[in-house]
Amino acid sequence: MAIVSPSMLSANFLNLQNDIDFVNTSNADWFHLDIMDGVFVPNISYGLPIVRAIKKTAQKPLDVHLMIEKPERYISDFKNSGADILCVHYEACTHLHRTVQAIKQEGMQAGVALNPHTSVELLRDIICDVDMVLIMSVNPGFGGQKFIPQSLQKIAQLKEMIVQANSQAMIQVDGGVDTTNCRQLTQAGADVLVAGSAIFGAENPRAVVKELKNS
Ligand code: DX5
Ligand code: ZN
Repeated sequence: MAIVSPSMLSANFLNLQNDIDFVNTSNADWFHLDIMDGVFVPNISYGLPIVRAIKKTAQKPLDVHLMIEKPERYISDFKNSGADILCVHYEACTHLHRTVQAIKQEGMQAGVALNPHTSVELLRDIICDVDMVLIMSVNPGFGGQKFIPQSLQKIAQLKEMIVQANSQAMIQVDGGVDTTNCRQLTQAGADVLVAGSAIFGAENPRAVVKELKNS
């Protein structure tokens, strides 16, 4: 059974409550919230007020994916806005170890995300300190992109590293995840599946969540 984290980037912002209710009542486990600053990634999504608003009515943990430069500046703001899991990009942090500790000190779970070009090897010295590693299976910035197949090998390699080090880190995969590749992803070692367009763009989103969950 995978953990399923629907990406609200693909939700209907004209009726967000409706899609929050859907996640609350579906088999999904978390809310995946994508924060983009227009610098680290070429897109701007939404910020703290939306996270706070979602928190008021979400009945499941908020899994916040920061695609912003120098994310250490905003750790306590995201905590105060309701984040339960805070994930920063390896590429955006000069002092990653310090940032991970700061997230945990705030009482959140700490995740580290890797862009498609970033080797999982770079996490070897920090793998026992992180609660989750996010493998980006598209270049971050937009929903609805095509899954990069090389991500499967990265997941398998990361899984091996986690087992070897006796780390408790979960593996999350984000980008182009759908019902055609979910099984391969969990077989490779993924614990958490993020999906935006595959869920919110589906005719039967509830059935897609179920299928992802059972993969
Ligand atoms: C992309 C974001 C993803 C995005 C996934 O930068 O991190 O969470 O919403 O969207 P899909 O599932 O449509 O690829
Ligand atoms: Zn994301």
